[in-house]
Amino acid sequence: MALLNIIKKGDDTLRKVCRPVDKITPRILTLLDDMRDTLIDSEGVGLAAPQVGILRRIALVIDTNDNDKMYELINPEIIEREGEQEEMEGCLSVPGEWAVTHRPMKVTVRAMDREGNTFTVSGEGLTARCFCHEIDHLDGKLFIDEAVHVLTKEEIAELFDEE
Ligand code: NI
Repeated sequence: MALLNIIKKGDDTLRKVCRPVDKITPRILTLLDDMRDTLIDSEGVGLAAPQVGILRRIALVIDTNDNDKMYELINPEIIEREGEQEEMEGCLSVPGEWAVTHRPMKVTVRAMDREGNTFTVSGEGLTARCFCHEIDHLDGKLFIDEAVHVLTKEEIAELFDEE
């Protein structure tokens, strides 16, 4: 098991557009395994390769609506969007910041798995937000860029106070 360092906001790596994966190499498989370990250890619901300093189109998403099943997405693309939602979002690379984002309620993603097979997967609610958020990372975008509302320090204090 290998834990990777998660890059934080302010590092230019998070602002780069990632390159597609054209071939599944042993290096890509190791990256997937290490990203899995890192995501589980960090207790997040998604992780994109640029967050660990690798500019390739790879992301992991945990489906909390389906027994925390973890999807490995290589070259993911959103092929369908349905409905809308405005909910709170955070990011392992943007610790301490929270924002309300405008996202589709349901999305369908097409991606390649670690065997090189193309598959599609749909997610609703938090999982849909997560698919969008992680795929945005692959294009150098962060959730705070186009947020409906970035929470103030006071709002965050209140939020965690209530729990
Ligand atoms: Ni993120």
